[in-house]
Amino acid sequence: MTDNIKREVVCSGIRPTGNLHLGNYFGALRNFVKLQEQYDCYFFVADYHSLTTHPTPGNLYQNARQILVQYLAVGLDPERATIYFQSDLPQTAELYLFFNMNAYLGELERVTSFKDKVRQNPNNVNAGLLTYPTLMAADILIHKATRVPVGKDQEQHLEMTRTYAQRFNSMYGSEVFPLPQAVGSPAGLVKIPALNGSGKMGKSEGEASTIFLTDEPSVIRKKIMKAKSDSGPTEMNQKKPEEIENLFSLLKAVSKLETVEYFDDLYNRCQIRYGDLKKQLAEDMVAFVEPLRQRILEVGADEEGLRRIIDRGKEKARASADRTIAEVRHVIGYRD
Ligand code: ADP
Ligand code: TRP
Repeated sequence: MTDNIKREVVCSGIRPTGNLHLGNYFGALRNFVKLQEQYDCYFFVADYHSLTTHPTPGNLYQNARQILVQYLAVGLDPERATIYFQSDLPQTAELYLFFNMNAYLGELERVTSFKDKVRQNPNNVNAGLLTYPTLMAADILIHKATRVPVGKDQEQHLEMTRTYAQRFNSMYGSEVFPLPQAVGSPAGLVKIPALNGSGKMGKSEGEASTIFLTDEPSVIRKKIMKAKSDSGPTEMNQKKPEEIENLFSLLKAVSKLETVEYFDDLYNRCQIRYGDLKKQLAEDMVAFVEPLRQRILEVGADEEGLRRIIDRGKEKARASADRTIAEVRHVIGYRD
């Protein structure tokens, strides 16, 4: 690809609120790695956003650094993509301010993730939590990104990003911002289930339901063997209940197609033994996660290399953000 062809821009981030897990990997990271081959990519650690739910983080930098290490360990390449900390880009905060001027209380209060967070933590309903979608819009639009690799749970936030882009454009009679789309795998946006039988795998689902990229083999085996199942099918070709469907979803993520078909066939013939399925799943999971875990340890040990990557990412991200902010200030009418 020559440099004078303008490539489409991709942007995404993950909040540094814990170690990355298989849901993050299949919902987001795996696509980050693929997209960096073809697009002009910006991947960041969302360390402003983490304050919405973790206002006094014990060790903000260490947590953010750990996400960066995991980005690099799964294959993000600072030579191809711009990789940076959200807080190294204060231009995002300025764009957030402009979007907030045109964001309405009613629409922000209706956001599903906001309502969930209010329910989970009624004593910390701060304005940052309410305006999470305008900050996310600013993250994406500061680089005029058109594609955003995320899991299914972020669809609504992307819809709001389009709303704020469009509202800004029509308010100031300009075409400054594109309307970005969420991108998942070819089969659509992904949801990796939790091991406890229902819901999505996630940091907030608790240790036992979530497989982290930093989990040691013995931990993975233990978690999988304890995953929820039932007493087995009683009729041929019976529809799978959610907890069994979930085990198959995990198998599909990390095992060979033949393995999935083998257990699917046993299930349909009512001859499945979940103990065997779980043992196979655990081994395939270990084979998948262990090389990543090793790589995380290696990358994390190179402090100097990390510093260089952080400084370079900051510089590249700022150059892109400065261009957008200059244009935004101009169309709003501030003195150039
Ligand atoms: P968590 O839910 O663990 O807090 P985040 O909200 O930080 O994770 O998610 C970071 C990225 O990973 C987002 O793009 C999100 O859509 C994706 N993601 C998180 N959990 C899952 C999951 N279980 N399945 C698919 N994608 C997921
Ligand atoms: N909201 C995303 C999540 O919870 C994290 C995020 C913040 C993000 N800003 C973003 C994702 C911009 C994509 C683009 O996972």
